[in-house]
Amino acid sequence: MDFFQTLQQLLLAPSPHKKIERFKIFYEHYRRSDTETLCHPSHQSIDFTEPSYISFCHVVPPQQVPRRKNLQSTEGQIALVHAVAHIEYSAIDLALDAAYRFRNMPQRFYDDWLQVADDEIRHFQMLEAILHDLGSYYGDLSVHNALFEAQERTAHSLLHRMAVVPRYLEANGLDATPQIIDKLQRLPLSSNITQIIEALKIIVAEEVDHVHKGDYWFGYACEQEGVAKSSYFDIVERYYPNTFRKPRQINIEGRKASGFTCNELKHIAHQNICD
Ligand SMILES: [Fe+2]
Ligand SMILES: [Fe+2]
Repeated sequence: MDFFQTLQQLLLAPSPHKKIERFKIFYEHYRRSDTETLCHPSHQSIDFTEPSYISFCHVVPPQQVPRRKNLQSTEGQIALVHAVAHIEYSAIDLALDAAYRFRNMPQRFYDDWLQVADDEIRHFQMLEAILHDLGSYYGDLSVHNALFEAQERTAHSLLHRMAVVPRYLEANGLDATPQIIDKLQRLPLSSNITQIIEALKIIVAEEVDHVHKGDYWFGYACEQEGVAKSSYFDIVERYYPNTFRKPRQINIEGRKASGFTCNELKHIAHQNICD
């Protein structure tokens, strides 16, 4: 089994079922070390012009994605779970693309991102099961392609990919998810709400490790390119101008455990929140 060629097929897989089924077989082979050597990639990476979910999801600008107004209603719960399921599905591709795109990296790099892909698949499947319980399915609502855009815009640089994807976008998820859990916990508890809370708790706990892996490989890329880790803010600003201008409520413990320094946290929160 050729490692990079198989990853390309997984990235292009046209349905969640096919992507997940094929990944499980590939990952099993990979863990048994049955895949072709990583040292001699025979296969050139390609740029993707559209996301793999294009055949079953209607893609719209972010402001047109259905809002989750009332989380007590089934409709609101579906909107929330669909939005998170879409993030997880996009995150499967982001993890696979990291392993696919960046060549001649240490073995641990490929181990890390395939493990992340495996986690993202589990997260997606948990949410997909909840969507089914709510009478919906992935692809039922419109989605945006912001994560796919980040994937393509950073395809040229490991440094930029690690700064923007795990260390910015996934780290933002560490901040946002506990706030959603908090909102849900204030509602009258139903079995659906409890199920959603449990899934989100598992996700946020496991995302810390993804951001931490991103932090490690961002540090590695900084060393390779001879730049300081403080270049993080400049890199992210290039993709998301003025994003650090306003104070934000952050997950201090989660971000610290993921490798953010106190100085970085102060800069992000605009407050002296740790030492
Ligand atoms: Fe995830
Ligand atoms: Fe993740």
